[in-house]
Amino acid sequence: MHPQTVHTIDQLREVIAAVRRAGKTVGLVPTMGALHEGHLSLIRASKAECDCTVVSIFVNPSQFAAGEDLEKYPRTLASDLDALAGCNVDMVFVPAEEDVYGPQHATWVEIGSVAEPLEGKRRPGHFRGVATVVLKLLNMVTPDVAYFGQKDYQQLLVIRRMVEDLDVPVAIHACPTVREPDGLAISSRHAYLSPAGRQRALVLWKSLQLAAELVEQGQRRADVIIERMQEVILSAEDAEIDYIALVDPETLEPIEKITTRTLAALAVKIDGTRLIDNCLLG
Ligand code: PAJ
Repeated sequence: MHPQTVHTIDQLREVIAAVRRAGKTVGLVPTMGALHEGHLSLIRASKAECDCTVVSIFVNPSQFAAGEDLEKYPRTLASDLDALAGCNVDMVFVPAEEDVYGPQHATWVEIGSVAEPLEGKRRPGHFRGVATVVLKLLNMVTPDVAYFGQKDYQQLLVIRRMVEDLDVPVAIHACPTVREPDGLAISSRHAYLSPAGRQRALVLWKSLQLAAELVEQGQRRADVIIERMQEVILSAEDAEIDYIALVDPETLEPIEKITTRTLAALAVKIDGTRLIDNCLLG
């Protein structure tokens, strides 16, 4: 059976009020749809920890810069609802764009330093759009816990920063990156890849694995590791490196010598599709 699907904020508030009257806890899994195993892992975490799990599906226009893939982003509501029926979600919230962003909308959440490097530098306005829509969803659903994937590591930091700085009464739980059997981090954007591009995309994971191996073997120099990662990426025909970075996992500031835990993060275009991945080293 399909879960209850709610389209308006008023209806959502009524249903959540009833859940609250029953003394139940609420978990929220915000998504943009085109659901895959990564999303389902967040849903399973919420189901394990909360009485009532709400999944939101909203392709948020404000987090896409001009010229990005907003128009072609996969919209697969019917199959998403089938997938959600299979995991016993309590409610799916699918707001209309005009309800999320009214004609007078003029308030934005700007996050400081943690939103600036890496994705923030290449996708101006992206995290402002993400933070704003996530704050709105948190205010609409008022969950006890909200779930995010480490696949989008910087997004997770941005949301944690926002929740702490703005005293949002919610716990943020992070879930590990779900990968295909060959290591590729699952993403809705894989729908854009050709079968050959899908194969070439494996270089992202291979380069992260190489970084982890080098650190394990005692390599401490970030420039050396980055150069080796570059070689792996560029072994894929047509791969375009956007960035490869070794950074502090809390501040995202670049690290030159690896003496503590380090985040390796990268963005690479394969087949013209921009893919990101990351892993913690050491
Ligand atoms: P979306 O890309 O649909 O991702 C929704 C959630 O699923 C995010 O928390 C993301 O990190 C997580 N996720 C995606 N792929 C994953 C994988 N392979 N393993 C584990 N988790 C994964 O991220 C967004 O949507 C949007 O920015 C959103 C937060 C919904 C705001 O619009």
